[in-house]
Amino acid sequence: MSLAMSNITRRFGQTEVLRGIDLDVAKGELIALLGPSGSGKTTLLRIIAGLDWPDAGNLSFEGQDWLLKTAAQRKIGMVFQHYALFPHMTVRENIAFGLTVLPRAQRPGKAQIAETVQRLLTFLQISQLADRYPSELSGGQRQRVALGRAMAIEPRVLLLDEPFGALDAQVRRDLRRWLRSVHDSAGITTIFVTHDQEEAFELADRVVVMNGGVIEQIGRPDQIYDHPATPFVARFLGLTVELPVVMKAGRAEAAGFDLTALPRRALPEGPATLFLRPADIQPVADPAAPFHLTEISSTGALLRVVAESDSGCRIEAEVPRRDGHGLETGMNVSLCAVAGQIFPGLASQRASSPVAAETTPHALKENRL
Ligand SMILES: Nc1ncnc2c1ncn2[C@@H]1O[C@H](COP(=O)(O)OP(=O)(O)O)[C@@H](O)[C@H]1O
Ligand SMILES: [Mg+2]
Repeated sequence: MSLAMSNITRRFGQTEVLRGIDLDVAKGELIALLGPSGSGKTTLLRIIAGLDWPDAGNLSFEGQDWLLKTAAQRKIGMVFQHYALFPHMTVRENIAFGLTVLPRAQRPGKAQIAETVQRLLTFLQISQLADRYPSELSGGQRQRVALGRAMAIEPRVLLLDEPFGALDAQVRRDLRRWLRSVHDSAGITTIFVTHDQEEAFELADRVVVMNGGVIEQIGRPDQIYDHPATPFVARFLGLTVELPVVMKAGRAEAAGFDLTALPRRALPEGPATLFLRPADIQPVADPAAPFHLTEISSTGALLRVVAESDSGCRIEAEVPRRDGHGLETGMNVSLCAVAGQIFPGLASQRASSPVAAETTPHALKENRL
């Protein structure tokens, strides 16, 4: 095990910002901490970096107690969202900086520093920028340089706090792939913080979903996507339709819905809540069904369809436009769910969710984070 955390707890005044974090990161692994703003991601990263200390808990690296080590002794590379490069230094000088300020005994010679920087410039595919100043770089180029600066000291762990957060979507996607390939070649244990689900899922070996200072779920991206462990994770991952259902012999039932495609679940008989993605709900024409279509709008590739029942239930579905030809407002439909996640009981326990919703048992609501 490379990095091991147990029961990490941090309070600011009365507020418990980290509430017992247990997390092991394997050597060479790329982990994403994913969670909404305020969930404690940066606080945890700062504790790992040695910029802050927990009130309780343990943190070790390869068996050494890191709570006894200063930030400098831990040899960590960090990149932040707004990591200002030194404006009066070229890219080459910025990347060399961490090496030039090492204590004399550890500092490589000038020629060796120049060689290390040249190697990094090539490795990070930014050689052409070497003699430019930060003001002559795009945002994406600056973050590549910032990573170069973090890597120059040959860190044992890389910590990246929303490093692409200020950049536009296309640049982010490019940098994400670039970072993954850099990680695969360099193999440095990396923790990447983001509130962007797509970014976490595309980049990481494992994703850690945080909420309110606790870890809600740890898993490979596909595990988390297919099997969110808690209502919070389900909502956060876009399962925004919450349907009260009744469990009978392992199957969920709800009026107007066809739920037979969902796998049987070992849940107690009685009330439960089914979480669905709008894209996993298919309206099927059915004159006898209690739902009718009240809105159909196109977003380009998708049709956004709203179905309402006489009892006031309102369900939003997304249908690929090429599959939606027969759909018209006013027509009666039954709603077929092709995938979803069921949790026992009525999931109105949204205390830890930032979306506090007033849910009446029969009113179906959509909740978006
Ligand atoms: N130095 C501090 N003093 C008081 N409260 C803080 C401090 N640092 C963070 N917090 C609070 O801790 C919570 C978690 O913050 P943070 O770790 O920055 O979350 P995230 O990075 O997930 O957005 C927030 O409510 C924030 O206001
Ligand atoms: Mg943060």
